[in-house]
Amino acid sequence: MTGITLVGCGFVADLYMKSLATFPDINVLGAYDRDPERRAAFCSHWDIPPLESIDALFAIQPKDGVILNLTNPDAHHEINMACLNAGFHVWSEKPLAVTMEQAQECYDLAKAKGLQLASAPCSVLGQAAQTMAQAVRDKTMGDAQLIYAELDDGYIPQAPLEGWISESGQPWPFVDEFRVGCTLEHAGYYLSWLIGMFGTVRSVTAASATVIPDKKGVTGCAPDFSTATLFFETGPVVRLTCSIAAPHDHQIRVIGDKGVLKLHKAWDNAAPVKFHPRRRIRRRLVDFPIGKKVKFKGAAHPKVERWGAAAMNFALGPAEMLQAIAKGEASRLSGEYALHLNEVTLAIQNAGDDTGAQVMTTGCAPMKAMDWSE
Ligand SMILES: NC(=O)c1ccc[n+]([C@@H]2O[C@H](COP(=O)([O-])OP(=O)(O)OC[C@H]3O[C@@H](n4cnc5c(N)ncnc54)[C@H](O)[C@@H]3O)[C@@H](O)[C@H]2O)c1
Repeated sequence: MTGITLVGCGFVADLYMKSLATFPDINVLGAYDRDPERRAAFCSHWDIPPLESIDALFAIQPKDGVILNLTNPDAHHEINMACLNAGFHVWSEKPLAVTMEQAQECYDLAKAKGLQLASAPCSVLGQAAQTMAQAVRDKTMGDAQLIYAELDDGYIPQAPLEGWISESGQPWPFVDEFRVGCTLEHAGYYLSWLIGMFGTVRSVTAASATVIPDKKGVTGCAPDFSTATLFFETGPVVRLTCSIAAPHDHQIRVIGDKGVLKLHKAWDNAAPVKFHPRRRIRRRLVDFPIGKKVKFKGAAHPKVERWGAAAMNFALGPAEMLQAIAKGEASRLSGEYALHLNEVTLAIQNAGDDTGAQVMTTGCAPMKAMDWSE
């Protein structure tokens, strides 16, 4: 495989480097960050050439390689556009862009120039997601009728965030994370699987809110909770929840007429997918509590050890993209897929508390506590 370069040497860049090491054929040619100290610390830790500017990066980037845009979400549009304008294929961290106008602009430019543009996350290419997709195709649980997917991370603002430091010494950027919001940051982890399995989302009915008013004094925070009902063109209905307030819960359940498919760890490429058949036992109806592990029929991919909250190989997407470029094919994580994922994510994030809501005309006061001694 040919070479890649990195723009952005922050927290996630370290996770990419650990992941890229599992693909020895991919050459990491260098990295650029606008912060010279970060650039120096990162490049010296990983022993790769530091690149002093984006133009210096363009000068060494091969045309059949991929530039990884690992900058903060607010910079994604600017960097994606600059790389595409310079004639390079781009892998963008999520979201593709923070507005649909910007995302569409990136998509249109890539299309006009015949370049590939893909966006994270790439866990959809990993074993757990592919096992679930295989079971859905095989109708292990019957037809997929209803899906519950949770991306609740626990009460994050009270976690010891200042101590979350990446391997090359970069702090977890909690100010940026709170401002971007957990929906833009995380909804994609299951949306990418769902869109991969079922295709187009026809409509979204969603709400988002801020339930934790003070997050370490950070101003301008995005919603920290969202819930959405997604109606897929091909039939299934999905309930998706994201928050940094509710107790940690990353499970997904695919409900069909024969039982339930379950997976508990969205961020683990090796998480088991289990089938819980539904049975009638005398007058009771039971989804078996102990599930049967679904066996993956495909070939294994390189795994990375758990680091922090995740055991995901971040290089699966760029590796698949390089393969597609070499074959002259579109990547599975195509521009259309990235654009649709971005649109659905923004629809949920920006829903607020009254967009499309049915505002109630009746009301009542909270109930007085019950006292049976009265
Ligand atoms: N932190 C995580 O655990 C994590 C996990 C998965 C994905 N991501 C995604 O990765 C991306 C980066 O997140 P992060 O946590 O690494 O952030 P970070 O703040 O730690 O690092 C971002 C880096 O990009 C650099 N940068 C910003 N704008 C730039 C520009 N215009 N030109 C050059 N460099 C620029 C910054 O100087 C910084 O070093 C985000 O899109 C985020 O959603 C983060």
